Amino acid sequence: MPRNTIAHIDLDALRFNFSLAAANAGSARPMAVVKADGYGHGIRAVARALATDTECYAVACLEEALAIRAEGLTHPVVLLEGVHAQADLKICLKEGFEPVLHNKVQIDWLTSEPVRPVIWLKLNTGMNRLGFGPQELAEVVDRLAPDEGLIRGLMTHFACADDLASPETAAQTEVFANFAEAHPDLQRSVGNSAAHFRPGQALYEWTRPGIMLYGATPLIGQTGPELGLRPVMSLESELISVRTLAAGDQVGYGGTWTAEKPTPMGIVAVGYGDGYPRHAGTGTPAWINGRRVNLIGRVSMDMLALDLSDAPDARIGDKVELWGAHVAVDEVARHAGTIAYELLTGVTARVPRQYSE
Ligand SMILES: Cc1ncc(COP(=O)(O)O)c(C=O)c1O
Repeated sequence: MPRNTIAHIDLDALRFNFSLAAANAGSARPMAVVKADGYGHGIRAVARALATDTECYAVACLEEALAIRAEGLTHPVVLLEGVHAQADLKICLKEGFEPVLHNKVQIDWLTSEPVRPVIWLKLNTGMNRLGFGPQELAEVVDRLAPDEGLIRGLMTHFACADDLASPETAAQTEVFANFAEAHPDLQRSVGNSAAHFRPGQALYEWTRPGIMLYGATPLIGQTGPELGLRPVMSLESELISVRTLAAGDQVGYGGTWTAEKPTPMGIVAVGYGDGYPRHAGTGTPAWINGRRVNLIGRVSMDMLALDLSDAPDARIGDKVELWGAHVAVDEVARHAGTIAYELLTGVTARVPRQYSE
């Protein structure tokens, strides 16, 4: 028998979250961002589940776009990192992939192709990761202008949209708006998930929601469920050992937690080898038998320990939710000093994904 350590994926919740993105996007259309194996949920299943909801997918790289085609889906697929070799442009043309070109090398590759795929162009509005500055991009647009219909649109990415109080997003939007004004024939896309929750944010023709589709928060200080999102992944395992610790007993590697009084303790068959974060310390919540309990001591590769004082009736074989409907993945991420993006994409191949509608 395999271990009962499973990532349940609720595809209905995924579609619900997409509909929330669409509602918040107003007249803009969301392209579902399914990169990094659908944020750890399985790109093929996620893309399939959203096939009638989204008109377009966005991924980081060619391999991910090809996974969508392998699922038999024919939607346009936007490659957010552009192409990594000139030969990729031929594949884009054949497969209907739309690379977002962001540097001069990619433009040179494109112009030396006799027949070209439809492309997007990336404007650097202040994140300073990818993209051309406004002056440079104006020259690129002029250079490509003779090839009518080649450029689908303009794109930028926000650096600080997770912080609703940051003035940076408005400043980036202004740079984008000024540039786009001169190119009314091009479609526009600026908004990641966070932008869907920013009052008054211009979202233009297309948004690019990622993390919100999976029910986790794109914002600092609020969890996904607090934003009306439904958790999609529920990481579950079971108790494989229970014992009562005596006062003074330590738990796990390094003996970093010591019982102050007799304490019921359970061992769960999940660890950092499954993608549960090792940095989640004592006090990180989990859910068992309708109760919240706390992790104690260090997370091991295959196991972790729970203080069962609040669930003293728990027995070997009882189901434990590490994150999901009762413990937001955002909470676990906060305890581990990271973000839900890292936890969801970090669930390892050892954990079977089990899908439900
Ligand atoms: C260019 C681009 N657009 C959209 C997204 C989706 O962002 P989020 O998951 O915050 O919605 C990402 C994610 O990293 C991205 O790199």
